[in-house]
Amino acid sequence: MTGSLIDGVAIGKEIREEIKEGVTALKEKGCQPGLAVILVGDNQASRTYVKNKQKSTLEVGMKSELIELPATVTEEELLACVAKLNNDESINGILVQLPLPNHIDENLVIRAIAPAKDVDGFHPENVGKMIIGQQTFLSCTPYGIIELLERTGTEMSGKHAVIVGRSNIVGKPMGQLLLQRDATVTYCHSKTKDLATFTKQADILIVAIGRAKFITGEHVKAGAVVIDVGMNRDENGKLCGDVDFATAKEVASAITPVPGGVGPMTITMLLKNTLQSAEQACSQSL
Ligand code: GUN
Repeated sequence: MTGSLIDGVAIGKEIREEIKEGVTALKEKGCQPGLAVILVGDNQASRTYVKNKQKSTLEVGMKSELIELPATVTEEELLACVAKLNNDESINGILVQLPLPNHIDENLVIRAIAPAKDVDGFHPENVGKMIIGQQTFLSCTPYGIIELLERTGTEMSGKHAVIVGRSNIVGKPMGQLLLQRDATVTYCHSKTKDLATFTKQADILIVAIGRAKFITGEHVKAGAVVIDVGMNRDENGKLCGDVDFATAKEVASAITPVPGGVGPMTITMLLKNTLQSAEQACSQSL
């Protein structure tokens, strides 16, 4: 058996078209959504991610503001920059690109972002709301994965979802969102013993551990849906996921490729969150 491909580029495009329509409707009311991105230092990977975010923001008709700060910026200066954006009515979403230099407390910076503009969904207030199922901004990668599952007609209710990885950004919120959709959720991580025992039980297997081709076909149950969040370079310098695509696709019923699976969805959901924020701000201002 060869599983079908879950095409994040095509699904992302479909959602971006919907977002574009939402942006047009807001502009007709005199409200243009705006996203501000703060980039600290000159981490090359971060710069590439931020450039892609900016390009996509402009493509859907939103205002994009990039604030570049040197790696030597003080915590106080960065917090002042966030505070200014919190009070800027033309900005609906604020994203501070992570990681930050070591001398800056990331948690402090995340907490300084107004929860109503926290389109990353990282603020503890928004994380808390997400866990108790209240309307809020959802962390973009797990939110994008839910969209991939829903738009490919993947049943979640009653299914066993196994998540490999427990980061605050992906693994932990992913489990909560699947639980809300009535999946039975198992978390695995670097200290899990006999990992394959768990992954082989998964109807839906989500892998976010940051290790190239770590999960192979032998870890996958026949007919499972496999979602690969990884973004690594293999021994030849080629982009690859945390899943060994060649062997896993022979066992899975559906699988995301890398690139072109989860990646395009993350930016898409950032735009969706920014639109949601702008809609709320616009309805309050009218
Ligand atoms: N660095 C890597 N991924 C992300 C993300 O989703 N948001 C932010 N702010 N920084 C990141």
